[in-house]
Amino acid sequence: MTETKKKLKKTKDFEPDLLVFCCNWCSYAGADLAGVSRFQYPPNIRVIRVMCSGRIDPSFVLKALKDGADGVLISGCHIGDCHYITGNEYAKERFEKMHRILIKQLGINENRVRLEWVSASEGKRFSELITEFTNQIKELGPLKN
Ligand code: FES
Repeated sequence: MTETKKKLKKTKDFEPDLLVFCCNWCSYAGADLAGVSRFQYPPNIRVIRVMCSGRIDPSFVLKALKDGADGVLISGCHIGDCHYITGNEYAKERFEKMHRILIKQLGINENRVRLEWVSASEGKRFSELITEFTNQIKELGPLKN
């Protein structure tokens, strides 16, 4: 992160940088539907599409936080709907371990990293989730690296 960006992050007009991992089959389609339906949400996110939430390794999240993200959202199909049957169950298990072992030990507020299920038909939910997450991270302030 550049020095200028670090200084900007300390101002009261803090706008968080958020990274959102979306699985291809549900959450990304939900994000797309939000766009097509013109549901408004803050422009603070960068979306990375992965084939399944089970693809998310905790190291991806830690790297994102290390490289300047103020929050990370992992999003996948609802339990029982994963295109690869159990990918989201693995994601949930990894997420819980990551919270328990890594996030708490590193002293990072656990609300900065979230796991949420969004289906392809939940464009409205996607926009509400991003709005809520953005506001939550604004409340927390910038992540100090
Ligand atoms: Fe969406 Fe696995 S394909 S969580």
